[in-house]
Amino acid sequence: MFRSGAGRVQISQEQIAARIQALGQEIKRDYEGQEPHLVCVLNGAFIFMADLVRAIDLPLTLDFLAVSSYGNAEKTSGEVELIKDLRLPIAGRQVLIVEDIVDTGITLNYLLRLLEARQPASLRVAALLSKPSRRQIEVPIHYLGFEIEDAFVYGYGLDRAQRDRNLPFITSQA
Ligand code: IMP
Ligand code: MG
Repeated sequence: MFRSGAGRVQISQEQIAARIQALGQEIKRDYEGQEPHLVCVLNGAFIFMADLVRAIDLPLTLDFLAVSSYGNAEKTSGEVELIKDLRLPIAGRQVLIVEDIVDTGITLNYLLRLLEARQPASLRVAALLSKPSRRQIEVPIHYLGFEIEDAFVYGYGLDRAQRDRNLPFITSQA
């Protein structure tokens, strides 16, 4: 539906908006009566986070952390570094990690271990994109926007050597 030919990914502004509304409703249903704490993984997830929180009709709190595993390369170095930690404690909270894309799974695996050690009441993951064919470590994704094929994508928060985060759509076209 969001693919346009082999090796190409194209997800429109409208498709992203519709999918995020559906995810917001699903999250509202699952966390009804609770106050989830959303953790945005900077930088890539900042636009997804901004749209997702407005699609969740529940009281919630949020925070940000930043990791780096890529530099300007398109493939992971396999090493994850915590660049910026959370400001708020998460012990006893219903924590939902908000990621832009799960590729090898190395970053998310690192984050799940890091946050689990702080003893949240629950720990789940919302990811806008997933490339299952690239997975090296099995990681859970409870709320997924789109499954895509193995192509480097950018736009809607995701960068191509730090540029193009401001594109309102997601593309793999050069
Ligand atoms: P992983 O650790 O290999 O799962 O990679 C996760 C991180 O790599 C994501 O949070 C992104 O920042 C980055 N990444 C992976 N694939 C892409 C892509 O196609 N475009 C832009 N960033 C990507
Ligand atoms: Mg990222």
